[in-house]
Amino acid sequence: MEITSAEFVISNTDVEKCPTGTLPEYAFIGRSNVGKSSLINMLTARKGLAMTSATPGKTMLINHFLINQNWFLVDLPGYGYARRGVKGQDQIRTIIEDYILEREQMTNLFLLIDSRLEPQKIDIEFMEWLGENDVPFSIVFTKTDKLKGGKMRGNINMYLRKLRLQWEELPPYFISSAETRLGRDEILSYIENINNQLNSK
Ligand code: GTP
Ligand code: MG
Repeated sequence: MEITSAEFVISNTDVEKCPTGTLPEYAFIGRSNVGKSSLINMLTARKGLAMTSATPGKTMLINHFLINQNWFLVDLPGYGYARRGVKGQDQIRTIIEDYILEREQMTNLFLLIDSRLEPQKIDIEFMEWLGENDVPFSIVFTKTDKLKGGKMRGNINMYLRKLRLQWEELPPYFISSAETRLGRDEILSYIENINNQLNSK
């Protein structure tokens, strides 16, 4: 799919204030600093569209970006950033959970996982929570440019093995890099397919 337009629409802490209407949306979630905002910029090929930072905790709000005038990408705050403090983390958690559970337009959630790390408890538990709540999601392994090919494959296979212990069926997964644009075509085709299915209903 070609991205012909991508524009920032609105930032919110409140799911009630997100854009009205029925356009489908695709949201990005994961630990702070995993690369959510960078992935949105990579997918849209617009460098400064979503704000990124080397310091975790950059995105604090629910950010809607209108793509090709007919669907949204949604950048969410990351979870698990300890320096926010317990209260700060609880606030972010509430924003994220309310959005995920209440936003009917949310068609698919992309859960981002840092390909360099061993499976992290916080991500595994987050996935369990998604499963319990029947939230449709897929996984994106990020920052693969930082690993050599063999190591990258090894890490991802280990991750999938761990998931198979818990999940009968694995969610779709993508291997990405915001630096090399690896995974861009696959993720955009995946979104396009879902959009087409929704349009043919
Ligand atoms: P929060 O908004 O704080 O939750 O973080 P985020 O998940 O949106 O991460 P962000 O996109 O701001 O990226 C965090 C840091 O990781 C930045 O310094 C990015 O340049 C870097 N980064 C993100 N994706 C990649 C990638 O694929 N490869 C490399 N090498 N660096 C990346
Ligand atoms: Mg961000």
